[in-house]
Amino acid sequence: MKILNEIKISFPSNSRNESLARSVISSFAAQLDPSVSEIGEIKTAVSEAVTNCIVHAYRGTHGKIELLARHLDGNVLYIKIRDNGCGISDIKQAMEPLYTSAPEEERAGLGFAVMESFMDKVSVRSTCDKGTTVIMKRKILSKQSDT
Ligand SMILES: Nc1ncnc2c1ncn2[C@@H]1O[C@H](COP(=O)(O)OP(=O)(O)OP(=O)(O)O)[C@@H](O)[C@H]1O
Ligand SMILES: [Mg+2]
Repeated sequence: MKILNEIKISFPSNSRNESLARSVISSFAAQLDPSVSEIGEIKTAVSEAVTNCIVHAYRGTHGKIELLARHLDGNVLYIKIRDNGCGISDIKQAMEPLYTSAPEEERAGLGFAVMESFMDKVSVRSTCDKGTTVIMKRKILSKQSDT
């Protein structure tokens, strides 16, 4: 698919940067003319992925998070969120709704389920002790879907 525009930012895994990531994706996605509900869902999916980098990948430490967003041909939004943290040993289990490795922190284990319900496609690559990459895609329909 042809890339019509793209941005790439990186920021430290500070929880303050979760809202930064939400604002950045919201501004970038605006170029695809999304509806209010589409933009809300995309921001939520990004914030779940970024929160996972902060609370799981770099648990108790700090590291770099990269956010890449692309506007692809066909009005498709492509998002890649990457960390160099602890990695996920069993991706299938991690993506199961209600699975969490941090029940003591009262996490619900719903972050991936939210990403999957709000985006058309979510794929995860991970290597233990090297990091995790989450790729999400969503085709933006027209504002007429807003009611
Ligand atoms: N970037 C990451 N690096 C390391 N582990 C991760 C990463 N993202 C997710 N995980 C693992 O996958 C599990 C499931 O993630 P998910 O976001 O679905 O739930 P959660 O973060 O535990 O809870 P919630 O998102 O509801 O607060 C996490 O508990 C964690 O073990
Ligand atoms: Mg989560």
